[in-house]
Amino acid sequence: MEVIVAKSAGFCFGVKRAVEQVYEQLKRDDKPIYTYGPIIHNEEVVRDLEEKGVKVIHSEEELEKVRDAVVVIRSHGVGKRIYEIMEQNGIEIVDATCPYVKKIHRIAEEQNQAGRRLLIIGNESHPEVEGIKGWGNDNTLVVETPEQVERLPLSEGEKLCIVSQTTFNYNKFQDLVEKISETRYDILVLNTICNATQERQVEAKRIASEVDAMIVIGGKSSSNTQKLYDICRRECKNTYYIQTLGDLDPDCGNSVRSVGITAGASTPNYIIEEVHTNVRVKF
Ligand code: F3S
Repeated sequence: MEVIVAKSAGFCFGVKRAVEQVYEQLKRDDKPIYTYGPIIHNEEVVRDLEEKGVKVIHSEEELEKVRDAVVVIRSHGVGKRIYEIMEQNGIEIVDATCPYVKKIHRIAEEQNQAGRRLLIIGNESHPEVEGIKGWGNDNTLVVETPEQVERLPLSEGEKLCIVSQTTFNYNKFQDLVEKISETRYDILVLNTICNATQERQVEAKRIASEVDAMIVIGGKSSSNTQKLYDICRRECKNTYYIQTLGDLDPDCGNSVRSVGITAGASTPNYIIEEVHTNVRVKF
């Protein structure tokens, strides 16, 4: 039996790096350790960290009360103000902001200084977008739909710098940029979409088209895992969506010669490994 595990399965580079940095901090025992927001959308990882003593700070108000501690900033990043609060309160900052997100923060600052108004294409309530906003001026704008573009409070000739939330859909980004460009603004467009999600999907599709059975691992409510499943199912009708090894249908290995494995963005490596080992041993 041949088993192929996608190289891009599971955590993207930025999330992996952030989770590792929290575990790294656990080696010390001089100060309490916090993360600003859950480090990842995966309950098991957050619970494991909690059991090891890592607490989650949920809001700016909670952060204001923290002293003499280590706080890890997750891959989504945070606005400038959050750094200021931490510095004022003598908090030791472990900055696990994904370098791709950090780059957008720099763009926001630089372009504002250059006199351009920042326009973020993304979901306004997403923590990454909130963080990016926190590096722009008060007049920063966020749009997610063509209707919102129509309502943009812009004056003619205004200089704009357009950036994107890293996980935004490329085609939708293009459509919105095109719509904004119909007007007579002076626009600088910087495509800041990260291709980790797309790479994971392309690889999953390729593997699914080559194997007899495909296993997709990820949380039930994870939309990127559902997407992976849909893509794989189109290529391979023996595609199984599981959360953990326990969900794996023991018959899924019957009369198959090759199995592919991929996983959503918040699936920890040990779950992928567990499934991999079992598929190899059992089938
Ligand atoms: Fe992940 Fe960083 Fe891209 S957090 S999705 S590698 S922007």
